[in-house]
Amino acid sequence: MIPPIDSVRLLASLNACVFLLISSTSCERAEEVNSSKVDFATEVYPVLHASCVGCHRPPYKNDRGRPRYPEAHLVLTEKEAIIRGADSGEVIVPGKPDESELLLTILLPLDDDDHMPPVEDEEYPQLTKEETETLSRWIKEGCDFGDWVHDSRYPTMAESH
Ligand code: HEC
Repeated sequence: MIPPIDSVRLLASLNACVFLLISSTSCERAEEVNSSKVDFATEVYPVLHASCVGCHRPPYKNDRGRPRYPEAHLVLTEKEAIIRGADSGEVIVPGKPDESELLLTILLPLDDDDHMPPVEDEEYPQLTKEETETLSRWIKEGCDFGDWVHDSRYPTMAESH
């Protein structure tokens, strides 16, 4: 039996209501998540320290007294040096994760020679998907370092020259 026209309308508007209800709650949720900005000092730097700083730190002497220099001249232990970047230029472009080598090298396939951290050095953990996403969000939000200036466990570049 074909239902009378009114009940068809009723069903259609009910559907619309349910749809609106679902989409409005998920919008609110998205806003909630985005309202807390990524904090560099507590959410980004610890990851860089574990996975990158071993090779991207100011010059130092190793156990055998040999001088070691930051790979690609990229130092990740201080804000100014991160902003300055590597031999090849800037590694972060505020607002543009797609143009930020700091993230792009991590996203390269594991078997790519330029992938970071290099797979053969197992002491440096690969980033988890969540850590990569946090880094990406930090760049997208404008690379705000907050109050963080440098990791005091390392000399500044000015001191090590
Ligand atoms: C085991 C040592 C090691 C670790 C750990 C490491 N890197 Fe590197 N990184 C290198 C070397 C070596 C190069 C130079 C590669 C080259 O010049 O071809 C380099 C180069 C780079 C460059 C410059 C690429 C360019 O454009 O010249 C970036 C950016 C970079 N690393 C980011 C990172 C990040 C981010 C991490 C941590 C997730 C990291 N690296 C961890 C050894 C390391």
